[in-house]
Amino acid sequence: MADKILIFGDGQIGNFYLNHFSSLGTPASITSADITDVKQINQAVNDYQPSVVINTAAKTNLEWCSQNQLLAFQVNVLGAANLAEVCDQNRIYFIHFSSGCIFQSDSSADAKKESDTPAPAAFYSWTKVWSEQMVVFNRSPGFKYLILRPRQPVSSQISPKNMLIKMLTFTKFVDTPNTGTVLEDLMDWSYQLIKLRATGVYHVANSGWSTPYQIGLLLKKHILPDLPVEKISKEELDRLTPNRRVDTILDISRLQSLGIKVTPYRQRLEEIIISLKDNIKLTPPNQLSEIFAETAASSRQRTVVNQCYTSLFQ
Ligand SMILES: NC(=O)c1ccc[n+]([C@@H]2O[C@H](COP(=O)([O-])OP(=O)(O)OC[C@H]3O[C@@H](n4cnc5c(N)ncnc54)[C@H](OP(=O)(O)O)[C@@H]3O)[C@@H](O)[C@H]2O)c1
Repeated sequence: MADKILIFGDGQIGNFYLNHFSSLGTPASITSADITDVKQINQAVNDYQPSVVINTAAKTNLEWCSQNQLLAFQVNVLGAANLAEVCDQNRIYFIHFSSGCIFQSDSSADAKKESDTPAPAAFYSWTKVWSEQMVVFNRSPGFKYLILRPRQPVSSQISPKNMLIKMLTFTKFVDTPNTGTVLEDLMDWSYQLIKLRATGVYHVANSGWSTPYQIGLLLKKHILPDLPVEKISKEELDRLTPNRRVDTILDISRLQSLGIKVTPYRQRLEEIIISLKDNIKLTPPNQLSEIFAETAASSRQRTVVNQCYTSLFQ
């Protein structure tokens, strides 16, 4: 029988899934149910009767989570537990989004495996660790769950949540290696993981690594020639941002061991930046203006914003 997929979280990754599964002809829907409310979850599940639930719902802004810790805990941790419980009771395959930012790597060689001990640096990252624990806590032996840990998602889509759109408003870039997840590729890996009914924890990222500085140079080359790409030290970044950003390299051999093909990050980065350029050209200027205004407002909370991104829509 074909899968029927119910997605919680009407954000960047939730909508990526909706579009992807819809394009494949796989029935999928995003529910507006509040994951802190078990009644609403049960209602959504009873109405849609899914075989797979994907939880992309979360409070994802680091600064917001630090300032609203109780609310962040309620959504990111207790909300995930609520969903896991309902899926366990209804024998639904449950996919939960955690994050690679629960780790800190010292160098590009310091790749973290799924079994390594997390070392969260921000309250948000703690909530992702606790969410993983609550997904598996007190479940029945037959409960089928999959925990995905992406890292710094990027895509060719015009969204204030897309890290590449955020970077188009920046001026300062660190040159520290980081793993990244191309969302277009994550869709394909997820489809395969669902077909396999993979269970447990998986790092979902492209192979190799890049640095924010290298990404800044690619954005300057392909999209915004005036982008000021100033290389700064990690110490300077830490002085700028209210919440320290970690560097994370994820070991993805567990994903690859399933026979899933993963393309190098740097190759995919350049490809999606070129597609992003095309998407920017296709987007009406007033829409771009709104998206970049929202992005720049969020960027101002953590860095110095440039003056030239407006040339993309003026
Ligand atoms: N984006 C990243 O850099 C990144 C990296 C690694 C892992 N992840 C994880 O991947 C998942 C999806 O991320 P994303 O990029 O799609 O984030 P996103 O765009 O912020 O989407 C999350 C969505 O969940 C919604 N939400 C918040 N509270 C909710 C509640 N109580 N019930 C239902 N929905 C609620 C948010 O609404 P509001 O906006 O109104 O709050 C938002 O629409 C999250 O678990 C995130 O932690 C993200």
